[in-house]
Amino acid sequence: MTSRLSGSELTLGYENRVVAERLNVQIPDGAFTVIVGPNACGKSTLLRALSGLLSPRHGTVVLDGAAISSYRAKEVARRLGLLAQSATAPEGISVADLVARGRYPHQRLLRQWTPEDEYQVAEAMVATGVTDLADRAVDELSGGQRQRVWMAMALAQQTNILLLDEPTTYLDIAYQIDLLDLCADLHEQGRTLVAVLHDLNQACRYATHLIAMKAGTIVAEGDPREIITAELVEHVYGLACQVIPDPQTHTPLVVPAARAARGARPPG
Ligand SMILES: Nc1ncnc2c1ncn2[C@@H]1O[C@H](COP(=O)(O)OP(=O)(O)OP(=O)(O)O)[C@@H](O)[C@H]1O
Ligand SMILES: [Mg+2]
Repeated sequence: MTSRLSGSELTLGYENRVVAERLNVQIPDGAFTVIVGPNACGKSTLLRALSGLLSPRHGTVVLDGAAISSYRAKEVARRLGLLAQSATAPEGISVADLVARGRYPHQRLLRQWTPEDEYQVAEAMVATGVTDLADRAVDELSGGQRQRVWMAMALAQQTNILLLDEPTTYLDIAYQIDLLDLCADLHEQGRTLVAVLHDLNQACRYATHLIAMKAGTIVAEGDPREIITAELVEHVYGLACQVIPDPQTHTPLVVPAARAARGARPPG
């Protein structure tokens, strides 16, 4: 397994909170990696560190053989794109202008907007179904529309590595599947994808490599068909469940135990 993006001995945190200690992670090249785990276990923190936005207190994130901290921001952005969990758009910006910002890392001081930029922006908007929204203000869109606009911006960046933090949030079920299908297409075209998802069944359907996190540690990783068991789900989420084959894809389908069959979830 080769890995252009990895973290070794990562200690991650904020001011007086340590989120992860001495975490080792390798993102397999060309895989569709999905990260799952309970709220607050450190998924977004890990993605921020892997994208160079958060400096580790200890350890190193390595991108293409060099510490990510040794690159200029624009150079990182040409290699790797991040769809953040809660991004806020500049006030009043239009959809087309926000998506166009995805092209910024490709622009040089003297070489401004090119037909290639125009093409990539248009393609990204078609792929995410936001073309008709081009002239609308981003802050006037619905949550799901806005999420697709951010995805378009990340796509327009045309990076080989794409990190997506909860890309399906706010999307209705049809758009969720559209977006995951789009990710699967990108994966088939050879891109390296990392997505945080909360829906375990979608994670099992789409991930070629699944990482399960709990309290800042990786507790299991590998092919979802090999690692997702009722015991793992119980261990990670404290939820009693049954794991059966998905009738469509035969990947693991997690069915929570009926209320009457399980005790109350401990608080916290
Ligand atoms: N900017 C911040 N400042 C201080 N603490 C933070 C900050 N961002 C996150 N945290 C804390 O770090 C821990 C991990 O947060 P993180 O956002 O990585 O969790 P997550 O796994 O992405 O959760 P979720 O599923 O809710 O998105 C949490 O306890 C959270 O409160
Ligand atoms: Mg998060």
